[in-house]
Amino acid sequence: MIRVFCYFLLAPVVVGQSFNDYDLPPHDYYNAPLTDPMSNLLKRLHAGELALEEPSGKPLVERLLVELDIPVSSQILVFTKTSLQRRAVHPGNPRAIYFNEEVYLGWMPNGRIEITSIDPNLGGVFYFQRPLDEPERLLFAREERCLGCHAGSATNFLPGLLGMSVFPDADGRNLRSVPSFDRVSHDAPFEDRWGGWFLTGHTGRVKHMANVLAKGSRRDPVLQPDGRENKASLQEFFDLDLHLRPDSDVLALLIHDHQIGMHYCFLEALYRVRQGLYDAKIDDDSRHALTRLRPNDVADIGACVDRLMRYLLFADEVSLGDESWQDGGDYRAAFLKDRRPDQKGRALKDLRLAGRLFEHRCSYMIYSQSFAALPRPLREEVYFRLHTILTTDVEAFDHLSGSEKQAIHEILTETLPEARDYWANL
Ligand code: HEC
Repeated sequence: MIRVFCYFLLAPVVVGQSFNDYDLPPHDYYNAPLTDPMSNLLKRLHAGELALEEPSGKPLVERLLVELDIPVSSQILVFTKTSLQRRAVHPGNPRAIYFNEEVYLGWMPNGRIEITSIDPNLGGVFYFQRPLDEPERLLFAREERCLGCHAGSATNFLPGLLGMSVFPDADGRNLRSVPSFDRVSHDAPFEDRWGGWFLTGHTGRVKHMANVLAKGSRRDPVLQPDGRENKASLQEFFDLDLHLRPDSDVLALLIHDHQIGMHYCFLEALYRVRQGLYDAKIDDDSRHALTRLRPNDVADIGACVDRLMRYLLFADEVSLGDESWQDGGDYRAAFLKDRRPDQKGRALKDLRLAGRLFEHRCSYMIYSQSFAALPRPLREEVYFRLHTILTTDVEAFDHLSGSEKQAIHEILTETLPEARDYWANL
């Protein structure tokens, strides 16, 4: 024992920088210039180009949603004390989250607004509204303490989005987290999802944990299922006038989960590749740069791109069952507003909501700023792999039929110019 110990002490200690040292160069999280939507809004506010007269509460939330182009119908409600403002949240006063593809806004009546705005080069940037009784302070400021949870183990210590599924008691306390629920994604089984969340809509015969409270001990909490799974209204739980809308739409929940998982894949790839290129001092902009990284990085980054590709193409998506799910319709309309159809009218955003979420299983997040800002060698690698997967037989992606692959290839060729140009030169 002692020998081993001495040997360990004598070994040279090489402390390298890790890909998730987000505050150090080349990432420089706290000093890098910001281009995320909320930072852009605050620049306009501080330059006097925008005035926000609404002091707080519902009117301010409504105004911010307009300014940030977030649909009100994206509202989803979580009633557990799992986030920063623990005291304010409980089943009678749930926390509302509103989102689009780049900004997530959280708020509960009598609470302060929390905003996670996705910067394409940095991931989540976190803003907190000033205390309600301190009107002399800046309306919003970046907050480091958010990172205490939002750059923790769930996001591999990178600044990102979170979500949990828990056994909630009648006060909204977390009796216990769902053990098998690692991270929000479209891969998580429905029976483990949405513990502590409200859900309106119909999920067919598929069981989930929304709208249900748990009783019993922390060690052995038991859900009290009493037919609360498919709810048209949440009236029995809280005063519906408190929030901007009375619902927590099932489609918004599904899209939220898909997006958070996709953001995570982009975030991880962004930081790993940027660090790898920096450490190996490579400024080659083609995908071949990824083969010239340090040997460990080649393997790690290869595995990270594997995960990204599987997620992008829904390889491990859990089944929605054969029955059609029913959503409220308003969020669906808002979600589809910017769909990018090809000449045959097909788009990546087209929903199926039976068996699976989408008709054409390649995430529309490939059009996002977060994807566009990934280092060029990584984007090329994704296009290269997409081409191989979509035009040949690749066993790991045999969930996609020949016709679905062809449809995705055609849609991307017509709607994503960078992919089209890359493929044209292969
Ligand atoms: C105690 C841990 C914790 C802290 C600190 C925290 N959050 Fe969160 N946050 C969560 C959890 C957990 C969720 C998932 C939803 C839920 O359970 O309420 C979440 C969700 C969010 C969401 C919705 C988008 C998403 O990530 O799912 C926003 C926006 C958000 N937080 C912003 C902030 C901001 C801004 C701060 C700092 C002012 C902050 N949070 C501090 C735990 C935390």
